[in-house]
Amino acid sequence: MLTEQLLNDGLAQTTLHPLNIRVKSASGSIILLDDGREVIDFVSGIGVSSFGHSHPEIIQALKNQIDQHLHVMVYGEMRQESQDLAAASLCSILPSSMDAVYFVNSGAEAIDGALKLSRNCTKRTRIMAVEGGYHGNTFGALSVSSNEARKAPFAPMVPDVDFMEWNDHGALQTIDESFAAVIVETVQGDAGIRIPSVKWMHALRNRCTEKGVLLILDEIQCGMGRTGKPFAFEHFSIEPDVLCLGKALGGGLPMGAFVSSKARMRQLATSPELGHITTFGGHPLPCASSAAALSLLKKIDFPAMEERAGNFQSRMMAHELVQDVRRIGAYIAVELKDAASVAFCVDHALKNGLLIYYFLSTPNAFRVAPPLTMDSDTWLKATELMCQTLDACALIEST
Ligand SMILES: Cc1ncc(COP(=O)(O)O)c(C=O)c1O
Repeated sequence: MLTEQLLNDGLAQTTLHPLNIRVKSASGSIILLDDGREVIDFVSGIGVSSFGHSHPEIIQALKNQIDQHLHVMVYGEMRQESQDLAAASLCSILPSSMDAVYFVNSGAEAIDGALKLSRNCTKRTRIMAVEGGYHGNTFGALSVSSNEARKAPFAPMVPDVDFMEWNDHGALQTIDESFAAVIVETVQGDAGIRIPSVKWMHALRNRCTEKGVLLILDEIQCGMGRTGKPFAFEHFSIEPDVLCLGKALGGGLPMGAFVSSKARMRQLATSPELGHITTFGGHPLPCASSAAALSLLKKIDFPAMEERAGNFQSRMMAHELVQDVRRIGAYIAVELKDAASVAFCVDHALKNGLLIYYFLSTPNAFRVAPPLTMDSDTWLKATELMCQTLDACALIEST
């Protein structure tokens, strides 16, 4: 039996710097700790709990599914209602060109599937990725991510990957007929919420179309309502050839998906046969919670969310310590002077009941990405706590 001592040793720990809080339960925008403290979740488990923790509709969908069946068999060999429902619900809010969904278990797997799909459909090998991009940690996803320090210890990466500058018109000229795909986050997350210009996104879309290159948009973090519209590409009036989703898609359960046209997906299924399979992809439990999450997405009050997030941004911008706030919807980076100030703020805010968090590759900023369902009182309380934390940080820096 596991003793308390063994648990304290952190047998499943993945970092040397754990937050060292024990979770008892979580509901809505609040995480309740073992010691009785309540923490406002201002990061949604890195963009996962976008519909709040333990949403009753998601919990009910899961209970119903548990009563019916768990795993039976993978992909299409058996028709499963929860899979059909999740796929139909997703396609109903996507452009008609995206009418085939491939469910996997994580964001990185969705990226790998999309990269394989692009090579298979175009019979080309080269992939163009973007400086500052983050796509996950499998070999494929890591290879198209740009942080060199995270890749070097595992080299060599998947070959034939190039990088171009983000939001740079000149860089688009390097995309030619030798490329299978360009992969970009519609809004870069780990780079500290970098929002491209509408003009650049249009030019990127046009260049890909002109050269027969597939445009893969990674909306694993910025999709599912995070930016104030159901999908971030809607801000730019473009459509991807392949869309990658994850995180909030599963309603709190592990799930990823890549979405494209039936014609392309057929190619992946037939050449070779079962060209991309995984035992648990499209598992009935995440599919059931995903179908519930997708129906919640349709009900999000985006104007209210925009107002609350906008007020937060104004309060942050007014603080002497804040250098910049980059925001689209409820996807926010608050930039401070340096990494030390960020570390102070993360620690101080948590002690006072507010969870904000770091970016992997942007040390001088912290992330804010609350549940999209957070009510205005909780937004206000979180904003006050944030201001108190910044005041405390300013005091330390002035002494
Ligand atoms: C933009 C983006 N793409 C891909 C991933 C990888 O997703 P996962 O961690 O589920 O593999 C992440 C995870 O943070 C992400 O933010």
